[in-house]
Amino acid sequence: MEAEKIERVAVLGAGTMGHGVAQVCAMAGVGVVMRDVAEPALEAGLAAIDKSLARFVKKQTLSQEDADAVRARVVTTTSLEDAVQDADLVVEAIPEIMALKLETFEALDRSAPDHALLATNTSSLSVTEIAAATSRPERVVGMHFFNPVPVMKLLEVVRGLRSSDEAIARATAFGERLGKQPIVVRDWPGFATSRLGIILGCEAIRMLEQGVATPADIDKAMELGYRHPMGPLRLTDLVGLDVRLSIMEHLFAELGEQFRPPALLRQMVRAGKLGRKSGEGFYRYP
Ligand code: CAA
Repeated sequence: MEAEKIERVAVLGAGTMGHGVAQVCAMAGVGVVMRDVAEPALEAGLAAIDKSLARFVKKQTLSQEDADAVRARVVTTTSLEDAVQDADLVVEAIPEIMALKLETFEALDRSAPDHALLATNTSSLSVTEIAAATSRPERVVGMHFFNPVPVMKLLEVVRGLRSSDEAIARATAFGERLGKQPIVVRDWPGFATSRLGIILGCEAIRMLEQGVATPADIDKAMELGYRHPMGPLRLTDLVGLDVRLSIMEHLFAELGEQFRPPALLRQMVRAGKLGRKSGEGFYRYP
């Protein structure tokens, strides 16, 4: 089946990544069912979509009428079965916990149509292992989006050991339809993006532990010296310290010492300093 035949997408998870993926699909004219386990999470996801659409309207890159049409293309449910039963593509964007992913893909295998492309938005976990929870691993791929999804141009398409060429081609073509620039990478811990991004974040936190410079100056070093749009500590606050810690734990177990999570990061997560979403990380967000 060709990418243009993807007309109905189910997005599992209405969090930062899930609502972003739902929004870009709806902006590309595709009907979306966004699923989360509870109504408040769905309401928060829809509110975030509204906020992002309002930015496009304010900049006049989208008319209010088009924004309303985008919004009308997103419906929500708490039922996984209802969400996926007519889907041509399912994008899973639930928490980065392998047991949860496996349980979800087993359920997808029971409820999604045979032709559906099943994608995980995992940042680092094994796509091959997730695919093995289904009876159709050839139709399972990684589609790794970046935060904020409506703005970031990259789509990292991850080829699991048993992903078919057709599945990779469909994911890539659909990414292009969303206005993204896809790259295709082999399923290896951390892929191409998280492996490099995490090492930078890890090292910045170690430098903070060693008193090399203040958070603002470490960030300024990369923003002004290397032209990164945002330094590694500010970016860790955006992504979430807990999210980055769990990716680090995984990469430490899979790839070794260079990914050992800094003690300071563990301590901050234990203290509830999770970054922007909790109001404080390496910076404060009043
Ligand atoms: N929806 C719509 N538009 C948005 C938006 C959103 N959610 N967030 C930002 N924008 C738009 C703004 O309206 C603005 O548009 P114009 O330039 O046309 O006016 C533009 O994006 C820039 O935004 P701001 O001026 O508010 O702020 P900024 O210039 O500092 O940019 C940023 C913000 C886009 C987040 C930029 O700092 C950036 O690119 N940072 C790095 C982000 C990054 O590295 N993300 C990857 C994280 S890792 C990940 O997601 C994967 C993982 O596995 C964890």
